[in-house]
Amino acid sequence: MINPFIIGIAGGSGSGKSTVTRKVIEAAGTEHTAVIVQDNYYLDQSDLTFEQRVRTNYDHPHAFDWPLMIAQIDDLRNGLPIKMPLYDFTSHTRSDQIERVAPAKVIVVEGLFALYDKTLRDMMSMKIYVDTDPDIRFIRRLIRDINERGRTTESVIEQYKSTVRPMHNQFIEPTKRFSDVILPHGANEPAVDLITSKIDRLIQS
Ligand code: C5P
Ligand code: MG
Repeated sequence: MINPFIIGIAGGSGSGKSTVTRKVIEAAGTEHTAVIVQDNYYLDQSDLTFEQRVRTNYDHPHAFDWPLMIAQIDDLRNGLPIKMPLYDFTSHTRSDQIERVAPAKVIVVEGLFALYDKTLRDMMSMKIYVDTDPDIRFIRRLIRDINERGRTTESVIEQYKSTVRPMHNQFIEPTKRFSDVILPHGANEPAVDLITSKIDRLIQS
């Protein structure tokens, strides 16, 4: 595999990153796409108690295993398959499952901090920031965390105020300036169409 097209998709929690990612996969075809979800690279916390894990600041860059993520993206670039860790949001640690990811023409790197690290940014051919208003992001997160991540309304509100919001403003929102494309209102159709038609052309070529 020579020179895959690497796309970074960053944005705040609940901004619509996964939706944009899904559209990119649909456009490129699953067989041409490798997806790296940064959530899977949260540090393993199996040595901590559940009570300790709840107190971790998951919106700080230090919460992630950057060396592993960069090494695995590098492997994909070099045509090697990887064993991506999988994360369990209910227990706040790495699950015992892995996902095998094969190298592909298009590599999508999706996550809060997809545009944070310069080494990673320099590998990317297209850098996208999904820019969605904070009230919309909060509503989406509240619904998702209760339905899918085993949380209570109170815990989502408390976490939002204490870490999600301040870390977003300090670390995530500033990465917008590194992007090539800003998607206002999340995964809006005309903007996503422009991106996917570019990927379409790339796959055909
Ligand atoms: O999908 P999304 O970008 O929203 O996922 C990132 C969010 O997951 C972060 O904002 C972080 O607060 C949250 N998270 C969590 N509990 C964990 C790990 C991450 O609530 N154990
Ligand atoms: Mg997500």
